[in-house]
Amino acid sequence: MRHSIPPAPEFGEPLPIQPVPAVLDFLARRRSGSAVNLTEPGPDAGQLADILTLSARVPDHGKLSPWRFVLLRGEAKAAYAAKLETLAQARDDAPKKTAALAKLKIPPLAIVVISSPQAGKIPEWEQVMSAGAVCTQMLLAASAMGFGANWITDWYAFDAEALGLLGLKDGERVAGFLYLGTSIEAPLERVRPDVAALTMEWTG
Ligand SMILES: Cc1cc2nc3c(=O)[nH]c(=O)nc-3n(C[C@H](O)[C@H](O)[C@H](O)COP(=O)(O)O)c2cc1C
Repeated sequence: MRHSIPPAPEFGEPLPIQPVPAVLDFLARRRSGSAVNLTEPGPDAGQLADILTLSARVPDHGKLSPWRFVLLRGEAKAAYAAKLETLAQARDDAPKKTAALAKLKIPPLAIVVISSPQAGKIPEWEQVMSAGAVCTQMLLAASAMGFGANWITDWYAFDAEALGLLGLKDGERVAGFLYLGTSIEAPLERVRPDVAALTMEWTG
């Protein structure tokens, strides 16, 4: 079922902070869906626009929007995967690198989130983290629409020639390939961290 999002708030419109129990329920049970289990249908044009709009609604020091999106789908995605296959064959560990491309080939849609930091007074680290926030928000938005979503970086997120195919500029890096589609099976819960063991009280 199509769930559309409300119109974007007007600039300066009050947005009261209020409890949203359904979001807590969703967060407590959300799981990524394995990329190789993602099939048609992927998001339609309206859903894709909504996913991108919600993904861009993240903390961003300096309001720089230091990220951008590249969409991979249909024949263009197949052509991109074929080019990566050629590159993989020339790399060490070619069979593994070629096999890894299944995660790109199978899902109907990949959104590449590119971290695109700008020079100036906002530390690059903060701009890169904002790109990570975009990826997380994209997982949440797509999952809340009922799509399976998987955040992946594989060898082709770090290979200079592969990045050249995407047209990355100097200083840009891939924050993630976000694979989206309809999950053919329910993902199983994975091991979760012991949050208490990762938390300390500062006492001076
Ligand atoms: C930046 C980043 C890159 C990742 N790259 C890969 C990857 O290349 N291969 C992989 O199997 N999982 C990768 N993962 C992990 C997957 O997203 C994994 O399916 C996810 O941790 C599932 O957890 P969840 O259900 O809590 O979302 C990556 C995660 C992050 C944050």
